[in-house]
Amino acid sequence: MKTTQTSENSRYSKEMVAMSPFNQVALGLLSHADDVCLFDTTLRDGEQAPGIALGQDDKIRIALALDDLGVDIMEAGFAASSEIERETIRRIVAEKPRARVCSLARSVKSDVDAVIDTGADFIHTFIATSDLHMQYKLKMTPEDVRARAVDTVEYAREHGLEVQFSCEDATRSDLGFMTSVYKAVEEAGASSINIPDTVGVIVPQGMSYLVGEIRKEVGIPIAVHCHNDMGLAVANTIAAVEAGASICHVTVNGIGERTGNAALEEVAVNLFMNYGVETVDLSKIGPTAKLVERITGFPMAYNKPVVGRNAFAHESGIHVHGVMGNSLTYEPFKPELVGVDRNIVVGKHSGVHSVKGRLEELKVRFPEELMPALMEEIKSIAVGGKEIDDAELLAIADHVRWKDEVGQDRVVLESFAVFTGKDITSTSTVTVSIDGERRTCSRTGVGPVDASLKAISEAVNENIKLDQYKLSAVTGGGDSICEVTVMVGNVQNDGNHSVGRSVGLDVVQTSVEALMAAINRDYSRKEE
Ligand code: KIV
Ligand code: ZN
Repeated sequence: MKTTQTSENSRYSKEMVAMSPFNQVALGLLSHADDVCLFDTTLRDGEQAPGIALGQDDKIRIALALDDLGVDIMEAGFAASSEIERETIRRIVAEKPRARVCSLARSVKSDVDAVIDTGADFIHTFIATSDLHMQYKLKMTPEDVRARAVDTVEYAREHGLEVQFSCEDATRSDLGFMTSVYKAVEEAGASSINIPDTVGVIVPQGMSYLVGEIRKEVGIPIAVHCHNDMGLAVANTIAAVEAGASICHVTVNGIGERTGNAALEEVAVNLFMNYGVETVDLSKIGPTAKLVERITGFPMAYNKPVVGRNAFAHESGIHVHGVMGNSLTYEPFKPELVGVDRNIVVGKHSGVHSVKGRLEELKVRFPEELMPALMEEIKSIAVGGKEIDDAELLAIADHVRWKDEVGQDRVVLESFAVFTGKDITSTSTVTVSIDGERRTCSRTGVGPVDASLKAISEAVNENIKLDQYKLSAVTGGGDSICEVTVMVGNVQNDGNHSVGRSVGLDVVQTSVEALMAAINRDYSRKEE
């Protein structure tokens, strides 16, 4: 999958993107734009991330999603590592994906045999070329390393495999020696070479230089494989492409060894936005990222570019106001471009525009004059950084309306304090004022809610009967707001019943407020 977009053939309208005009001035034209493609290694380098272990079926599902997304090559695993790995690669090959299926292999013949055994016709073979690796890991001379690289490539070619060859730790290798290895494997029949930044140490300018130098000597396509140890994997990949590399090694969500690899979604979006190169179906990026997150159990950071939960989330009043006028005011491009949703968050930083906008989207007509009360309620609940979701917003709006209907409180809760704990009888002390007259009562109960409700009842009228008490969490999760509804009878010794309701974060306080609401409702009815 790869198309180069021009303003005439782009299926994305200009209204969906607002990039910086300075990019166009600073960036060169990609003369090889039509050759740029993605080599996905989610199933190999991605799976090597500590904490990730994929089962066979998981890998097949990811492979099919990658194929559907449109990557050109997928590294499906490391065939020599186990029989299960080989069987998994075999199963992926049997799915006959449109993408080329590749396996990693060290530069040893037995690893090549393992790849042949899977039926994959593409091998990615590597050997380290940095002094550090040759001396301490391989314990081989540079000449032996080069000879081994060539032997392996020749052997793989003799068996009909297409070969991509990597100098592991390329970015810390001697340029002259490394170039001699790349030239030798080109002669031996490799169809592309890969430059891995194995421990993420290069900077974009260094990568441009390195690709430029190797390009002078090597004629076959150049791939890059960038790790993210210093946060530059995507920038280095793009710099390499600018310098003439055409094959970008990437992983979904950037998973991979240590801090991971260049993230597929970030590389793909940058290539599209800045060079018009559409390497994959961008609209499938969001669903693919979610699938990989779910299957690997590796949670994406909230602020992960392109696909993180906050990538298109807005809470602060100024931003939401801007986004509601034109989303590009605070977004580089529209989320639908990459198959994710925008999220207007209602929380501590929300302004009245966000709340109104959200209510409108939820098709709720809320009285304008109650907006200040609603905003106050939202801020008091969201004060600890809690985000208020739709169900919670509806419950709060409902409650504010309801409170307004009840009118001015005649019975006011001045204070309440609860003493509770393990093996301790809960005691609650409350002070209420009824039409200005203060009363304080203490009561024990089975738990803090019971004690508090009893203390309030006694302070108001000892004959109050709690007919019903209903507590529900509005949504799941430990920080969900709760909704309490109570029905009380006989508040004013007349046998009538009143209902009170409240929402909040604290169960005891919300229960107390619900009871106070019921009591006040009864008082207001009496006045009518
Ligand atoms: O990071 C790396 O160097 C690798 C090689 C196997 C190419 O993953
Ligand atoms: Zn790697």
